[in-house]
Amino acid sequence: MRTQIAIIGAGPAGLLLSHLLHLQGIESIVLESRSRPEIEATIRAGVLEQGTMDLLTEAGVGERMRAEGALHHGIELAFGGRRHRIDLTELTGKAITVYPQHEVIKDLVAARIDAGGPLLFEVSDVALHGVDTDKPSVRFSHAGAEQIIEADFVIGCDGFHGVSRAAIPASVRQDYQRTYPFGWFGILVESAPSSEELIYAHHERGFALVSTRSPTVQRLYFQCDPSDHVDNWSDDRIWNELHSRLENNDGWRLNEGKIFQKNIIGMRSFVSAPMQSGRLMLAGDAAHIVPPTGAKGMNLAIGDVKLLARAFEQFYRDGSEDRLNSYSADALKRVWRAEYFSWWMTSLLHTFADATPFQREIQRAELENVVSSRAMATALAENYVGAF
Ligand code: FAD
Ligand code: DHB
Repeated sequence: MRTQIAIIGAGPAGLLLSHLLHLQGIESIVLESRSRPEIEATIRAGVLEQGTMDLLTEAGVGERMRAEGALHHGIELAFGGRRHRIDLTELTGKAITVYPQHEVIKDLVAARIDAGGPLLFEVSDVALHGVDTDKPSVRFSHAGAEQIIEADFVIGCDGFHGVSRAAIPASVRQDYQRTYPFGWFGILVESAPSSEELIYAHHERGFALVSTRSPTVQRLYFQCDPSDHVDNWSDDRIWNELHSRLENNDGWRLNEGKIFQKNIIGMRSFVSAPMQSGRLMLAGDAAHIVPPTGAKGMNLAIGDVKLLARAFEQFYRDGSEDRLNSYSADALKRVWRAEYFSWWMTSLLHTFADATPFQREIQRAELENVVSSRAMATALAENYVGAF
């Protein structure tokens, strides 16, 4: 097989890149190790920044997002027995949409298949070759046969556990990382929404988050021990924990419902730089991970492929490699701002078991500052909606 751009991974980054290239008349092939039903059912992110919403709309894949997603103009921060609203739209002129990542995936898969793909599921043994030459290739197995794709470029969109990152030579690569001493326990619940906007709660028992998926399905998270197991958490124990972390004396109550999914998510900050070497470029979680508190992961993946699509448009239009050569530097500027914000939101809102009384009071004072200073609230809002 021969194509212009070989893309490894059919997550938001790989699928959207393939679609944006198609709109510019550039050919690509996407290789995915999992099955279509599996990628369309994996529950992950929920919050789309304004720039992500705009890009999906411009690319003609935003119709269902606009119809079924929930446009939010603010978020709430809850601590010290009170809830405080951060008015995102008043502070930044922008908004966010809560629309599940697997619905974005379904929309993108449908668009790729409508346009004739090619999109190969359930590939295995993916290996990159010659990315330091101008004839890179990807070998893999599909439907029991060994295959090879020759391409002009290879793009690694295969997530944190993919194979692409390792093809950037260790001699030029630097990894930056931080792990956190807690994880998130996530549940999906059949109930009506408890709140019109997301609630990020800081409580002495730990962080909790109220999000949504649809008028009948809600997404809730609470800080937990990352080595804990979902079987240790009965539904009653989960509800008790959520009620105690989220409810104050203001009469607001969390709606209960049937819990139909439970999972525990680890938290890390990670950047691998540079994000390109020779004819290989990395995009999304293959190159960087953020803890989920700032809701940035999928948005960063989409920001990367927006840059790549522009760079390839320039390259195939007039042969200029300027944007391709500056891809890593351009992407990393935004990545590090999001790394900073995600680390900051995580540190602001979680409970640290080893915090001294001094550190606990400083954390409380910082929360007070954020909700009482328009400047601090604006900084949070700008980062949250991605207004930079
Ligand atoms: P992925 O989505 O990981 O896709 C990579 C794809 O590559 C996968 O389909 C994988 O099967 C495939 N693959 C892997 N290895 C290979 C291989 N060798 N060959 C072929 N294919 C391969 N982000 C937000 O922006 N907002 C949020 O609210 C948010 N909430 C989150 C909540 C949770 C619980 C979690 C876990 C994450 C959350 N994120 C959020 C992060 C977001 O889900 C990720 O950042 C996003 O999925 C990254 O997209 P990607 O395309 O780079 O990688
Ligand atoms: C969701 C996930 C996040 O990480 C976040 O900050 C907000 C919402 C969600 O899954 O709905």
